[in-house]
Amino acid sequence: MARTQVGIIGAGPAGLLLSYLLHAEGIDAVVLEARSREYVERRVRAGVCEHPTVELLREIGVGARMDAEGLPHHGFSLRFDGEDHRIALSELTGKTIMVYGQQEIVKDLIAAHEAKGYPVEFEVSDVELSGLDSESPRVSYRDADGVARALECDVIAGCDGFHGVSRPSIPDVKVFNREYPFAWLGVLARTPPSHEELIYTHHERGFALHSMRSPEITRLYLQVPHDEKIDEWPDDRIWSELSARLVTSGEFSLREGPILDKSVTPMRSFVAEPMQYGRLFLAGDAAHIVPPTGAKGMNLAVADVRVLSRALVDLLQHKRSELAESYSDTCLKRVWRAEHFSWYMTSMLHTDPDGDDFQRRLQLSQLRYTASSKAAATSLAENYVGLPFE
Ligand code: APR
Ligand code: PHB
Repeated sequence: MARTQVGIIGAGPAGLLLSYLLHAEGIDAVVLEARSREYVERRVRAGVCEHPTVELLREIGVGARMDAEGLPHHGFSLRFDGEDHRIALSELTGKTIMVYGQQEIVKDLIAAHEAKGYPVEFEVSDVELSGLDSESPRVSYRDADGVARALECDVIAGCDGFHGVSRPSIPDVKVFNREYPFAWLGVLARTPPSHEELIYTHHERGFALHSMRSPEITRLYLQVPHDEKIDEWPDDRIWSELSARLVTSGEFSLREGPILDKSVTPMRSFVAEPMQYGRLFLAGDAAHIVPPTGAKGMNLAVADVRVLSRALVDLLQHKRSELAESYSDTCLKRVWRAEHFSWYMTSMLHTDPDGDDFQRRLQLSQLRYTASSKAAATSLAENYVGLPFE
């Protein structure tokens, strides 16, 4: 049977970054991914890297393309009552964020694995975990040719996202779940952004977000009902709804262009506790989900694997288990902060289909306070750019 020190399930940002961090410390790891390389590299996801994520990617030497092609942003707009209110991130916090698509980070990490010869196996199936409460847990799976394989490990890292096999392998896991009565329709369009910065819009017709990927590509989102079918949204309807919600009394006109990709994403908040069982450690979406309004999903995955890589270096190289034992508690502190922030941004900005006038007045009051009080704006900004690690 093949052996490795850390068997990593999933080649999203969590699994790939963990593998890279471990190899850099001389720990052997194998990444097993259900999808093809093309699929994971093309999957359109969120695009905001918080400050600590950017620093980490630079530090480990995988930030070159991000620095060349990513867009550093110093602020963003909250748009409501038809007016823009700028949250000046760098003035308020001394930090910036980087707009750079998650799948670009995935591409960079896969290329870095390839260059160094670190193993990533794509298109595996029938992944099963066993012996999690022993010191040599196992992963059995079929490789891309359908051949049955097994990998004996010291530790398994469950980085296989919300629908993976790892979390269900933990007995008695406690879950916290909140679903929202709306979803996001996301579109990628070939047209220059209509504004230099992101615009988070609160409108009675529903939330809208103007974001971007490059000087030629715009990323836009619309709040839609939670069970919305994509067929309900021909391109013309998308553009007219975006224009209606993004309307302002100031200078702004929405640039339209060919739509390259569109999809509907449900919104949920979810946390599984603990994030560890025996020799299985969960990281990223396998353990927690945030609604995308705070742009925290990928950044939380990065924070988890940074903690996990340090804990595993101590466990496997120095036979010290303290950091491994406290892994879940350490991560959950940051996770719950991001859960609260994402819930707060979501509640402040969306139109609740079941809400009443009282709730709408509270929302507007919160938006006005955030836009006009330096203390409130600073609190939003420090969470948005990312609190320091640890
Ligand atoms: N076996 C192998 N791989 C699997 C399995 C399985 N049984 N189940 C899922 N996977 C793979 C998925 O195909 C995916 O590529 O695990 C990977 C998980 O990656 P992500 O979903 O990107 O999750 P994560 O790495 O935790 O990154 C979190 O992703 O969903 C976004 O908004 C989220 O930005 C956040 C980020
Ligand atoms: C994106 O650009 O995809 C994006 C930006 C900000 C968010 C969510 C998604 O809060």
